[in-house]
Amino acid sequence: MITTTPDAPVKLSEPDWFDPKSRHVWRPYTQMKTTPPSLPIESAQGVTLKLSDGRELICGVSSWWTACHGYSHPHIVGETQRQVGTLSHVMLGGLTHAPAERLARRLAELAPGDLNHAFFCESGSVSVEIAMKMAIQYWLNKGEQGRQRFVSFTNGYHGDTFATMSLCDRQGGMHKHLVDSMPEQINADIPEGPEAQARFEAVLDAHEGTIAAVVTEPLVQGAGGMKFHSVEALRFMRKACDDRGLLLIVDEIMTGFGRTGTMFACDRAGIVPDVMTVSKALTGGTLPLAAAIATTRVFDSFWSDDDGKCLMHGPTYMGNPAACAAANASLDLFEREPRLQQVAAIEAAFARYLPTLLGIPGLVEVRWTGALGVIEMESLKELDALKAAFVEAGVWVRPYSNVIVLMPPFVISEDELETLLRAVITVTRSWAQSVFD
Ligand SMILES: Cc1ncc(COP(=O)(O)O)c(C=O)c1O
Repeated sequence: MITTTPDAPVKLSEPDWFDPKSRHVWRPYTQMKTTPPSLPIESAQGVTLKLSDGRELICGVSSWWTACHGYSHPHIVGETQRQVGTLSHVMLGGLTHAPAERLARRLAELAPGDLNHAFFCESGSVSVEIAMKMAIQYWLNKGEQGRQRFVSFTNGYHGDTFATMSLCDRQGGMHKHLVDSMPEQINADIPEGPEAQARFEAVLDAHEGTIAAVVTEPLVQGAGGMKFHSVEALRFMRKACDDRGLLLIVDEIMTGFGRTGTMFACDRAGIVPDVMTVSKALTGGTLPLAAAIATTRVFDSFWSDDDGKCLMHGPTYMGNPAACAAANASLDLFEREPRLQQVAAIEAAFARYLPTLLGIPGLVEVRWTGALGVIEMESLKELDALKAAFVEAGVWVRPYSNVIVLMPPFVISEDELETLLRAVITVTRSWAQSVFD
């Protein structure tokens, strides 16, 4: 049966595949009844999204923070197409192939310390689930029962599956209505400053013997509100875990591959987690791929003559050759092109432009790190109107919660970045004046 939404407006310039009233595609984080129709898009090149009606938008989001080299980068497209033509997919159980072997080796070289063992899957959430499973079984394999719980942080976000929802901010986060259906975990505040550090250690000590791992996003808590913390806070977590023999899982799904200015946020703090999760920019925004990368300490706890000690996980598409080829091509670009310098240039532009918003009504703060800029408002009233105004101004920016977040592709030119920032500042200022004054 074909069903449609009754009250969505229809435009004449729409392509024949697009029905703005269709309900067949159920959209993410969206109230389907009231949402305006999505914008039909034909293609994307570099930093430009081309809409079906001919309009072009400069992308300020990198498609949920994935497209670090811009869209349809010829090197990634070429390598991925070549791989699809040779071996588009094969199961990783009992068979292996060059793209996965090569990628795992390159990730081992790139990741901090002895994070040498990559377990592949298709999404960030699942990689965090795998990291959790590794941590629980690490203890079981060592003969310690009872370590089943995780310490995670206020404002944290680690995914939308049930186990990962249990690590997100349970009180203030987007899944709070489902809290009774989630596994119990242990909440803590980011250990920023002496008081929070003491509270954090008290939490670890109060739950001694029951904790499998501490789980954190490094330096920036993303979807939970783009909150920043210091390298000292991250180092403190590492030390507090070391002092107690606990595992530390660091979720680099948003921050990994240059977003905060170094290849991984952990590099800035100089710490090595026991398991690190990566996804998003791993394939340069080309195909879905993620990995939970473990240290030798964790890997070796599974290394045994006992089959019962193996990691019982195996997503059907894990290590998909085309996705691994895209990731290898993305890593080639990090080697060949000046990505981290481009990130530094974006950071410098944020420093020039974002403070010009200081003083507008409803503003809480502007902040930035690397190629990640944040305009935090008291709230986002009239959110649909704000989103529409960005499109009208020729930019693609998706504000959420109470933040307007800028995470453009690293390859954005100086002119494009200036256009993006000027548009965002002009729209935000006039929207804030109309809704907060
Ligand atoms: C830090 C972090 N962890 C996990 C996830 C979940 O990844 P995915 O949406 O690929 O499941 C996200 C997604 O935004 C994220 O930012």
